[in-house]
Amino acid sequence: MKGAAHARSEREPGVEVSGGAAFAPGLEGVVATRTRLSMVDGAAGRLVIAGFPVEELAGRASFEETLYLLWNGVLPDAGRLEGLRGDLAARRALPEAAGEVLEAAVAGGAAPIDALRMAAGTLAPSGNDRDDALTSVAAFPTIVAACWRLSQGREPVEPDPGLSHAANYLYMLSGEVPGEERVRALETYLNTVSDHGMNASTFAARVISSTGSDLISAVVGAIGALKGPLHGGAPGPALDVVFEIGEPGRAEGVLRERLDRGERLMGFGHRVYKVRDPRADVLAGAAERLYASDADEELYRLALEVERTALRLLEEYKPGRNLDTNVEFYTALLLHGLGLPTGLFTPTFAVGRVAGWTAHCLEQRETGRLIRPQSEYVGPEARKWVPLEER
Ligand code: COA
Repeated sequence: MKGAAHARSEREPGVEVSGGAAFAPGLEGVVATRTRLSMVDGAAGRLVIAGFPVEELAGRASFEETLYLLWNGVLPDAGRLEGLRGDLAARRALPEAAGEVLEAAVAGGAAPIDALRMAAGTLAPSGNDRDDALTSVAAFPTIVAACWRLSQGREPVEPDPGLSHAANYLYMLSGEVPGEERVRALETYLNTVSDHGMNASTFAARVISSTGSDLISAVVGAIGALKGPLHGGAPGPALDVVFEIGEPGRAEGVLRERLDRGERLMGFGHRVYKVRDPRADVLAGAAERLYASDADEELYRLALEVERTALRLLEEYKPGRNLDTNVEFYTALLLHGLGLPTGLFTPTFAVGRVAGWTAHCLEQRETGRLIRPQSEYVGPEARKWVPLEER
């Protein structure tokens, strides 16, 4: 191409670019912010949410308690908890525009996660971050449930202000008030995924917030980041393998075939955790209780056998890579046990993670600085303009 001369050569990662900055692809190893919200210790397999190990918090707290904790740094007393419940319940109804967007999205065949992004974009920023945080957390389940029902040719179910956040989500999906075990299982899931360090969607939300933009814009951007298959977009395949295996005796054969073809086993391995993802244990316990009381226990036992076989084979095929069970394996099992279709796995992840996104936006506003990394230019520098007729 004419004029494309003198491209700079690319430097190795870690080599100084300018003014003391080093090239860190994907920002790996770069600490861009300090947070009180969560700590991910990948070597020890620990996740701490606002001071509580995930094992301590997830199975005990209601989702509203976790939300209050993330927003305020302390657990609420009874009065404050009641206040938060009321504030959320009062904001569950959607603006008219959201209903219209959802109908159009469903008619156009949009995936539920895309419909969530579109409808969340109709929520009007109020000029007050706390209000916008309440509005987005309260509206997400209504949007996802309405989208799901519309895609089934059914009318959306009006939110019930008498139900908790999690119970109301299940109610709006099925039209039936859920039992305690199901609500507990969903709350455990939502709490477990409520926050997880500087993951890509949380980072996206913080970047948007750091510019002084509103919190609704930040969570809409975060949904876009969550959708990607390297982040929250691939929970279904883990369950598909369990279904394909069908019975414990077939686990080894099916998994070996996949590994012989060089395929990855979904639900195993993690970029940060080099031991078992602590969220997997919390969700395994919740799934065990749910399946024992309310779902297909045989499927749970099959999943355990698939996990055991997968871990043994991964050690055989990939020795020393420390591939262990990640959050997706039991997420899929738990959400399936709750009757959610795979298309709702990622939107339901968003229903939980919006707690962390909003908390990070509030924290960013208080303590943060404009997030603005540098780039290393590797293109040419002295091109001469070529008139259109000469190109
Ligand atoms: N099944 C089989 N092999 C796997 C594997 C899996 N699930 N995950 C990683 N590996 C292998 C890689 O092929 C590679 O092998 P090699 O050294 O012979 O080339 C080695 O382990 C290291 O993989 P790498 O790609 O460097 O790890 P990563 O940290 O970049 O990958 C994931 C992390 C999550 C992308 C990866 O483990 C994966 O693809 N898992 C399956 C998808 C999944 O469950 N995603 C949800 C994550 S919460």
